[in-house]
Amino acid sequence: MSELVIEGRAYIKGSISNWCIGIDDGKISEIGKNLRGDDHINFKDSIIFPGSIDPHVHFRDPGLTDKEDFSSGSLAAAFAGITCVLDMPNTVPPSISKASLLEKKEIVSRKSWIDYGLFAGCVPGSDLKSMAPHAVGFKLFMGSSTGKLLITEDADIQNILADANECEKVLSVHAEDEKLISKDPEKNLSDHAKNRPPEAEVAAINRLKGAECRVNICHVSSSPGLEALQDTSFTSEVTAHHLFFDKDSVGKGTYAKVNPPLRTREDRFALMKAFAEGKISMLGSDHAPHTIENKEQEFGYAPSGMPGVETSVPILLAMVKRGQFPLERFVNAVSEKPAEIFGFNKGFIELGKDADFMIVDPGRIEAIKVKNLHSKCGWSLFEGFDALFPQAVMLGGNLLIDEGSIVGDRAGKDVIVYSKS
Ligand code: DOR
Ligand code: ZN
Repeated sequence: MSELVIEGRAYIKGSISNWCIGIDDGKISEIGKNLRGDDHINFKDSIIFPGSIDPHVHFRDPGLTDKEDFSSGSLAAAFAGITCVLDMPNTVPPSISKASLLEKKEIVSRKSWIDYGLFAGCVPGSDLKSMAPHAVGFKLFMGSSTGKLLITEDADIQNILADANECEKVLSVHAEDEKLISKDPEKNLSDHAKNRPPEAEVAAINRLKGAECRVNICHVSSSPGLEALQDTSFTSEVTAHHLFFDKDSVGKGTYAKVNPPLRTREDRFALMKAFAEGKISMLGSDHAPHTIENKEQEFGYAPSGMPGVETSVPILLAMVKRGQFPLERFVNAVSEKPAEIFGFNKGFIELGKDADFMIVDPGRIEAIKVKNLHSKCGWSLFEGFDALFPQAVMLGGNLLIDEGSIVGDRAGKDVIVYSKS
């Protein structure tokens, strides 16, 4: 008999039907039609999904914690049904050496409400091998963005590709080629998009072709970028902001300034189509919170990036409920693919997998209200969007969120087990 059995309509092997799921030691130990446990939770007609995994967040810890910290960011993620996040290295100091990575690990440990992995950043001459045992993957910026991480020279890029291959780690790439990014004065989103054209995305992707390591292209943003991906084995991510906003209609000024930029209506429709067809592997929020004060500066000075970790999955789930996005592709993009790509024992309701779940009552679509979100930054471009937030979230077999309240402990673990040597 399992310690705990949860019961409901569960998404197992591609379809939803009534199941009992037994849990022992944080893992799924039994799956059956009628199971008894020491404890039993009946979610009735609600749907039990595997917890989501967000492969791309910027939680700003350490160093920029007025924008976000690991506690607020991971809590925001949890309320979206995300039970694991992968955090980017452009913090202060940046995670670009074994020492800074271990320091960040120490700082964020015990702060996270959900499981997490930390990316190590690449700079010319980075010692990837010393960081590899501690990192979930490597992050390469081929175009400048928030922070100072940037690699532009072919020789440096080739070294990174070779080392990432040897370390058998995923290399997540911000694919905009610095050489094709202009620095002309910018007054609005069109200027920003003109300075960072789709050609920069295409050129960066093309420069990576032939790489032997596992390349993951972050936030694909354009139709030409999609085409450049087609004859590659690269995995990829798309953000909710590139799917739902375009530069010409978003009307939010600096708040919609992001890298890569929002592009045209045609681009975002092409992205949605490719995403629904599985030509883009994962949904990644690129949650990049900046304070309202930061964003209220003149266009040219305001930083790029917007929050999204708490809104992306619930918005897509509302589309699934309305029949506007395929259910199988949703689970594949937010749980299965990230688990497969990064090699986690998560993402599926199967025997032996981590007992991380989001439980959804499909009748509860609501309009997003910024005042209900948990990011420190206090704003969102998705105010008013329909969303389906989970009624409950479980991490390692423990109830973390129930009916909109935190009921569990701050028990998030680093997905990379490492020794301190
Ligand atoms: O718009 C962006 N913001 N793009 C990035 O690549 C970084 C991010 C940030 O950290 O603010
Ligand atoms: Zn990012």
